[in-house]
Amino acid sequence: MGNRNAVLAAVAATTAALAIAAAGLAAAAVFGGWYDVAATQQHWKPTYAVLETAMRHAVKLRARDIAEPPLADEAMVLRGAGCYRDKCELCHGGPGVAPGDPGQSMQPLPGPLVDARRHWRARELYWITRNGIRMSGMPGWEFRLRDQELWEVVAFLQRLPELAAPQYAELLGRAPPSPACGPEAQRPAVPPVTVAAPAPPDVERGRRALNQHACNACHIIPGVTGSNVYVGPPLEGIASRQFIAGTLLNSQDNMVRWILQTQQVKPGTAMPQLGVQEHDARDMAGYLATLR
Ligand code: HEC
Ligand code: HEC
Repeated sequence: MGNRNAVLAAVAATTAALAIAAAGLAAAAVFGGWYDVAATQQHWKPTYAVLETAMRHAVKLRARDIAEPPLADEAMVLRGAGCYRDKCELCHGGPGVAPGDPGQSMQPLPGPLVDARRHWRARELYWITRNGIRMSGMPGWEFRLRDQELWEVVAFLQRLPELAAPQYAELLGRAPPSPACGPEAQRPAVPPVTVAAPAPPDVERGRRALNQHACNACHIIPGVTGSNVYVGPPLEGIASRQFIAGTLLNSQDNMVRWILQTQQVKPGTAMPQLGVQEHDARDMAGYLATLR
């Protein structure tokens, strides 16, 4: 009996010592600056394998229930091709077209998407394009492209594996000119929807939109993770302030105006206009209105 207790005590002591040593190593890696964050260094092969595997399974799980629209329509493929040229070629390149500087020197490297159809179902490509891949540099396009445009890019990715360089060039020759997608793009007229009161802002979506439009690159915003930056004023308590940037009376409509037309409202201010769509601005204003 006494013997067994002694063994248990030794095991417990060893476990505790190992845990303390592991915590010490982790602290040294974080605070001692051991981990080399240079993008010119490759990931260690096992690190890369773990990240890659986790990413593949995460995407498959989350895309499981997405319904796919028909994707074979030629007009859809063409619009998707134009959008790919405008938004994706910079990093992923295309048949016969090298990626731009960022795409050639990021870590991990954005691959050419000519084989994406073999690894991913259409709904998974849609999920990746819409949401991006955190910690890899793949941006999420939910707040930059219309839902229809996301599917058009996916339709184009279905065609991409069949294109050699001349066919790719030929397809782009028939694709709409830049900007082929996003808020500035001309879209075929959509039949007007019956006029209804604007939907109330989606506060949670607004919180994500603030991050997706880089507002937290300059502002500390409660609820939005970011560094402690003071390029713009912290937005804590913004809902209780009388004026926006000292010029506009603080209301939800004026907040939307500030976000969409910053430079008209206050010419020369250091805050840039970030190409936000109006409904995103409404959701952001909805979230900012909760910061009392
Ligand atoms: C700023 C650079 C950048 C831009 C722009 C970009 N991507 Fe990516 N993309 C990446 C990076 C980095 C990865 C991750 C590569 C990895 O994890 O191995 C990636 C991964 C992907 C993947 C997964 C590839 C695979 O098989 O693992 C898809 C699909 C994808 N991107 C589609 C797109 C589409 C569509 C667009 C345009 C709407 C786009 N990307 C724009 C950088 C970019
Ligand atoms: C490049 C930095 C930068 C970015 C990015 C930025 N802002 Fe600003 N913002 C500023 C600066 C600087 C001011 C102060 C402007 C002034 O008073 O002229 C400001 C002011 C504001 C104010 C008024 C604050 C107050 O105390 O009156 C709000 C609200 C605001 N920004 C929201 C946003 C939102 C929402 C976004 C994202 C769409 C954003 N900002 C992106 C720099 C930035």
